[in-house]
Amino acid sequence: CLARPARAAGGVPFGAAIQSDYFDTDPSYVQAFVDHCDIVMPMNELKFGLLRPARDEFNFTHADRLVDFALANGKASRGHAFVWWSTNPPWLEAIEDESEAETALIEHIERVADHYRGRLTDWDVVNEVIAHDPRGGPDGPLRDTFWLRRLGPRHVPLAFETAARADPGAGLVINDYDLEFAGDRYDARRAAMLDIVRQLQDRNIRVDAVGLQAHLYSHLAVDVPGFARFGEALEALGVRLIVTELDVIDFQVRGGVEEQDAAATRVVSDLLDAVEGTPPLALVTWGLTDRYSWVPDAMPRQDGKPSRPLPFDARMRPKPWYDMLRARL
Ligand code: XIL
Repeated sequence: CLARPARAAGGVPFGAAIQSDYFDTDPSYVQAFVDHCDIVMPMNELKFGLLRPARDEFNFTHADRLVDFALANGKASRGHAFVWWSTNPPWLEAIEDESEAETALIEHIERVADHYRGRLTDWDVVNEVIAHDPRGGPDGPLRDTFWLRRLGPRHVPLAFETAARADPGAGLVINDYDLEFAGDRYDARRAAMLDIVRQLQDRNIRVDAVGLQAHLYSHLAVDVPGFARFGEALEALGVRLIVTELDVIDFQVRGGVEEQDAAATRVVSDLLDAVEGTPPLALVTWGLTDRYSWVPDAMPRQDGKPSRPLPFDARMRPKPWYDMLRARL
């Protein structure tokens, strides 16, 4: 089961994803992780394509720097991610043959898990395998990806089985987005996640936690009772929750900073209500400061004003929701 990083006051460890891009250029950014986090994890540096630009070329340099930095400062770190639809290098996607794809998957997980054995508490073994709308497609709940096209649904148990063998001490996480909100599409995503977890367990394959990316939309309502039922169903299966990529997507918000931050506080508070009965193993935000975030690139505010997705603003001042979060964890 998942090792919990030590934290003085007990409770749920808090952490954030860090980017090597700013490691040498922005000392106050780096210092904020030292000051505020129990967990510091590489945001992009362990993704397939960045780690492995060519089949025989593993570039661990950037990820190692971040993981070493975390551990040297008494933090825990986690791995993201072995299997994803995005960031696959061209040499990988060019593989046509099923057994060659299988070999590539196994060799990747074995080699990378081995490199980090004992240094990462857990791995996002598969990331975003559920179809955007699992009721929509002809192929069932799984997203149409390179891995699904080459190996079929068996790539999910294969990845977990391989990870369990390669690093028996690491927690194994199935990570996904849009599991928190109210509505049929989100109910279907939660149901699909439960099915995948049950299918893994039916095959005696270990899965320790469901990762909630928790890219929360400040204009959507968290389904507190619906999510609580999902958490209880997982608990009955012996599977924990972990919040892996929390931030607030505020592209539809109107008004000034005050309205924006109030909406963020509300949606984060609702998430904490939703996991109250089944506390997560950890809570990790996807970055720490509004200075650097994927949100304004992917989903800029419709009124052209700056996004405020993260717990600290661009000048490194904590938002009200950060204080609320730390008080409640
Ligand atoms: C994003 C990073 O934040 C960006 O820096 C990068 O350019 C693209 O990927 N879900 C995930 C993350 O699982 O890996 C994504 O991270 C955000 C959405």
